[in-house]
Amino acid sequence: MKFFADTADVEAIAELAELGLLDGVTTNPSLIMKSGRDILEVTKEICGIVSGPVSAETVALDAEGMIAEGRKLAEIAENIAIKVPLTWDGLKACKALSGEGHMVNVTLCFSANQALLAAKAGATFVSPFIGRLDDINLDGTDLIADIRQIYDNYDFSTQILAASIRSVNHVAEVARIGADVMTAPPEVIRKLALHPLTDKGLDAFLKDWAKTGQKIL
Ligand code: E4P
Repeated sequence: MKFFADTADVEAIAELAELGLLDGVTTNPSLIMKSGRDILEVTKEICGIVSGPVSAETVALDAEGMIAEGRKLAEIAENIAIKVPLTWDGLKACKALSGEGHMVNVTLCFSANQALLAAKAGATFVSPFIGRLDDINLDGTDLIADIRQIYDNYDFSTQILAASIRSVNHVAEVARIGADVMTAPPEVIRKLALHPLTDKGLDAFLKDWAKTGQKIL
């Protein structure tokens, strides 16, 4: 499963990239707002750090507007994936932009039928939002499983990008189901390394080591 960072925080992206953990980045208008930076400038900087797909989102509501914005965003760098919403106009824009050879990420997907439409419109990625489904008492990971089965039934090449990931449990679950990509905030990615038994074991080893009086260096 590929790891994308769901953030426009350049420092956090650089740290994860240095560790070799990052296969790409996703941003959205809320994350750009949080960064306090200009979308074109910050996205260009991110594309210079990460060689994999960097999703940048359009904000127009009509297909024509999305296509024009998508083309402009795609000029930032070769690794831009244009993000369009899963609306009728978003699907039209997806079809047009993917036909021009751009990577397209169809976002705000909340049902298997929507994911089916994204695949048929030629999306490179579809982004089902797990956490936001959990927020309304639905099981977001069930949606990932449904889409996996449907895409496998028909050999769709659209990649399932599990989004709106809020916990480490979400990550393990979507990996078990077979999502192609997961995007999570840097703090969730960092938490994947944590386990209380690792800390407890390390503590015990170090106490015993101190009793030997030895040094490695
Ligand atoms: C995905 O591309 C979105 O940017 C993101 O995962 C949304 O997550 P949220 O529901 O936590 O805002």
